[in-house]
Amino acid sequence: VKLSRQAGMAEVATGVLHNVGNALNSVNISAELLLSNVQTSELEGLAKAAGLLEKNRADLPAFFASGGDGEKLVDYLQRLSEVLADERRELSAELDSMYTGVEHVKTIITRQQTLAKAASVTEDFAPARLLEEALAFSHATLAQDGIEIVRDYDEQLTIVGDRNKLMQILLNLVSNARHAIRAALRSGILDRGAGRLYVSARDQDGTIRIEIRDNGVGIPVENVPRLFTHGFTTKDEGHGFGLHSSALAARELGGSIDVHSDGDAKGAAFTIRLPRRREPPRISVAEAADATEAV
Ligand SMILES: Nc1ncnc2c1ncn2[C@@H]1O[C@H](COP(=O)(O)OP(=O)(O)OP(=O)(O)O)[C@@H](O)[C@H]1O
Ligand SMILES: [Mg+2]
Repeated sequence: VKLSRQAGMAEVATGVLHNVGNALNSVNISAELLLSNVQTSELEGLAKAAGLLEKNRADLPAFFASGGDGEKLVDYLQRLSEVLADERRELSAELDSMYTGVEHVKTIITRQQTLAKAASVTEDFAPARLLEEALAFSHATLAQDGIEIVRDYDEQLTIVGDRNKLMQILLNLVSNARHAIRAALRSGILDRGAGRLYVSARDQDGTIRIEIRDNGVGIPVENVPRLFTHGFTTKDEGHGFGLHSSALAARELGGSIDVHSDGDAKGAAFTIRLPRRREPPRISVAEAADATEAV
């Protein structure tokens, strides 16, 4: 699924770049025309005419006497004004098409951003199923440590959203719970076979409430406020990244994640709350590609 999704995104990106490239090409041509138009402007003719008048400033009546150069200058200025009017028409037409091209690029990008947002949150899924998948990932190690799983699911519950984001959170929480139970086993707080992992997914007043609770080492009260900050870890091999990225993912899903622990040796509970219904436009990656193609 991930690969085909990436392939789909790459396809969309290629389409978008292609369209942006086309638009920029026409903008570029307009810019070149404008440049050469400005460089060869007839405006210089006006400067020549002004120079001629300046030279004859002392005796303008003679310059404009009938049959003199002044008469030719009048004709010349007449023609020049026509030529400059044409020039202005051309320049503003070219600027117009350049503006259209830039607007077009803006539209393509805006539309793509909207579609990308919609395309990342298009699945209907059951949190209970997802929890089972997350547990299956850790099945072997959980069994190894004799950890018993206690489930409490509403299997009918569904969420509309990006299931990969929730999966990422669940995997982090299960892995942390397993570590906490192991630590408790190691330090003798728990006897072998007494490790418990409670997972639940229930509707609570229209909100989806997912809880992952363990009876491991627990969290010292003073650590609680720092738990979700980037880099906070108490493990030798830890990175302190799991809960931080989980909090971000929960927010991206329109929800939140909280922790509760009664302190050292008292276990810990993590609660994810997600809105039950989010209905962004349901657009698939393929449709998104078509839509940007049509711009
Ligand atoms: N279920 C839990 N029980 C007790 N402490 C926990 C639990 N979950 C998290 N913690 C504490 O929160 C800290 C941060 O967790 P987080 O998942 O962010 O990082 P980590 O597990 O240390 O490293 P990694 O980045 O590899 O996940 C942990 O080091 C641990 O001290
Ligand atoms: Mg972790």
